[in-house]
Amino acid sequence: MSTPLVVVEDLRKTFVHMGRELHVLCGIDIVINQGEVVAFVGPSGAGKSTFLHCIGTLDLPTSGRIRLGNDELTGLPGSRLAAIRNRTIGFVFQFHHLLPEFNAVENVMMPGLIQGKTRREMEPLARSLLAEVGLAARATHRPGELSGGEQQRVALARALVLSPKLLLADEPTGNLDTATSDSIHQLFFEMNRKHGTTVVVVTHNLSFAESMPRVVTMRDGTIESDRIGSERAAALGYRDGSAG
Ligand SMILES: Nc1ncnc2c1ncn2[C@@H]1O[C@H](COP(=O)(O)OP(=O)(O)OP(=O)(O)O)[C@@H](O)[C@H]1O
Ligand SMILES: [Mg+2]
Repeated sequence: MSTPLVVVEDLRKTFVHMGRELHVLCGIDIVINQGEVVAFVGPSGAGKSTFLHCIGTLDLPTSGRIRLGNDELTGLPGSRLAAIRNRTIGFVFQFHHLLPEFNAVENVMMPGLIQGKTRREMEPLARSLLAEVGLAARATHRPGELSGGEQQRVALARALVLSPKLLLADEPTGNLDTATSDSIHQLFFEMNRKHGTTVVVVTHNLSFAESMPRVVTMRDGTIESDRIGSERAAALGYRDGSAG
């Protein structure tokens, strides 16, 4: 049975730039179920990042509704949105924003420490996630002592450390070589399988998108197509092939 995690209704975002209105999201309707892995693709400027920021509560829509689990986000004050964000969502962006003065394991622990959890509580979690992303041997390296792909994997471990229901990734491998990108893409599937994490990833990598059970194509602020490949989903051992 499919349980909706993200329900978006008639989502619109208009920026006003130099006195002119720019309609960037023009009425998006979509349901993403728990346990799904969804790719968002589409040309530059289509509104993919804006959409991701809205469902991630990092940006406010101009109108429309977003429900995240049982929480209706529309109209909630910033403090409530931040609490929901911390509890529910992990983010991975193209530029991973690791803290340069902290080592890998400290960076992964950071979201927990910020929430007031103790080092003792967080460190075993952080170390086991670093092991899952293949970086057990790099735990004490600072970002400057890691390769780009390794930094990206640390960012992924950090995004997962509070066991988010929803992982949002915006071109997480945009600046990496093919082999490194492939291995990070595999990690998304692994995290989905192991932890049941719902994954929404924006990508320009068409072969990665092709390997995804569900691919949403955006164009000019609308959803142009939404394709669910149930055979491929089943072949991947994917949790929820019957989305939608
Ligand atoms: N703060 C802003 N003010 C005005 N316009 C903006 C703002 N943020 C984004 N835009 C415009 O909104 C449109 C959509 O931007 P968005 O970043 O969502 O595109 P995208 O699909 O993620 O593109 P890309 O693939 O290049 O990352 C773009 O044309 C952009 O110029
Ligand atoms: Mg973008």
